[in-house]
Amino acid sequence: MIDVLLGLQWGDEGKGKIVDYLAEKYDIIARFQGGPNAGHTLYVNGKKVVLRTIPSGVFQPHCLNLIGNGVVIDPVSLQQEITQLIPLQPDVVKRLFISHRAHLILPTHRALDAASEAAKGEDKIGSTLKGIGPAYMDKTGRNGLRIGDILSKNFKEKYNKLTQKHVQMLRQYGQEIDWAAWEQPFFEACEYIRELQIVNSEYWINNHLKAGKRVLAEGAQGSMLDIDYGTYPFVTSSNTTAAGVCNGLGVAPSTIGEVYGITKAYCTRVGSGPFPTELNDATGEELRKVGNEFGAVTGRSRRCGWIDLVALKYTVMLSGVTKLIVTKADVMDNFNPVKAAVAYIADGKETKEFPYDLCDMTIEPVYESFAGWDVPIGTCTQYSDVPQVFKDYVRFVEQYLETKIAYISNGTGRDHLLSIP
Ligand code: GDP
Ligand code: IMO
Ligand code: MG
Repeated sequence: MIDVLLGLQWGDEGKGKIVDYLAEKYDIIARFQGGPNAGHTLYVNGKKVVLRTIPSGVFQPHCLNLIGNGVVIDPVSLQQEITQLIPLQPDVVKRLFISHRAHLILPTHRALDAASEAAKGEDKIGSTLKGIGPAYMDKTGRNGLRIGDILSKNFKEKYNKLTQKHVQMLRQYGQEIDWAAWEQPFFEACEYIRELQIVNSEYWINNHLKAGKRVLAEGAQGSMLDIDYGTYPFVTSSNTTAAGVCNGLGVAPSTIGEVYGITKAYCTRVGSGPFPTELNDATGEELRKVGNEFGAVTGRSRRCGWIDLVALKYTVMLSGVTKLIVTKADVMDNFNPVKAAVAYIADGKETKEFPYDLCDMTIEPVYESFAGWDVPIGTCTQYSDVPQVFKDYVRFVEQYLETKIAYISNGTGRDHLLSIP
């Protein structure tokens, strides 16, 4: 069976930390979508590591790690990531497998990402500018290059054809770029990747499943950034919900077991787009400070607000979440009251459904307030230590979402995790 772990908000829910913890129970950790726009933070022996394309099972020595076909790979960024990991985990390459079918991010994709964002001006998405959108556009436009192409004799030819097209597109944006300067590092990185374990990942993973191996699919971004169900157009370019696992790894829906959905005890968003519970006040500022809400990839400050149960109920539904994990509960130690949005007043009408398009409507969240707690959650080592008011809050969230909360994360370390019996 494949269990799935994914973010239920706008990303950065703490997926890296939780995968690193859960990986102990799995044989294989597999990324199924996204690319180096992800930044998954882990603390290993007290040292902070941010993973971008490599699955977060890399620090569990028994785990194999697969970068699935649904991922887009920037060779330069992947080589850098591996090089930085080798001193910490020397066998990283031996345990890493990459799908033939994963698409490549070319240097010109990054240039196109930047040009497209600049052209949008005020309406920009706030992309991480890693070339994700343009790479997925070439994939669905049937122009893309794949990891398998690196092994082909006429890779250079295919590359030239595509980059010439990109150069034309960049001219339409009024940009003449010295793209040739990026070629050398790109081809050097492709040479490096040629030597890695490139596999027919759909057979690879299905054979492992047949052999009874336990697989955890690691999501990137968050459900509210999903290309179909997120706050379009302020989204990323892949399916971040559970359905993305089947396409992104080549596995049947019947192989999916547990779906772990992660949410912070509050809510953050980096980049532009609607955010109904955003707090543009001192409380929001305090959340950012106490939660250290600055992007793992871009260092941008994250927008902060109260937890949004309307949006969460929507994303729990979309992915069929079976178990919830609430992270950063320790951050809420500093707030009294703690609030949760339980409905929206959308254009004057109360609703509990997440609207189709929030951009052109006024949304006023309806909040439920909870008294703060005096025993810091961050100091608890087991769930029985947490104060009753916090347990009541947990029960309320479970009842609203009709889903069990399995773990409360109360710190950055691997062991800052309270299992709820
Ligand atoms: P990801 O993209 O979902 O893996 O999340 P990020 O790594 O981008 O952001 C999560 C941040 O929160 C990281 O800095 C983590 O170290 C940190 N973090 C994760 N869980 C907790 C927690 O329970 N408490 C606190 N205080 N920090 C946490
Ligand atoms: P992890 O996996 C938070 C956001 C960007 C932008 C939008 C589109 O660490 O949770 P893109 O680079 O895909 O064109 O950006 O999506 N975004 C993320 N926000 N966490 C992420 O990944 C994100 N990946 C992309 O900020 O608003
Ligand atoms: Mg992140």
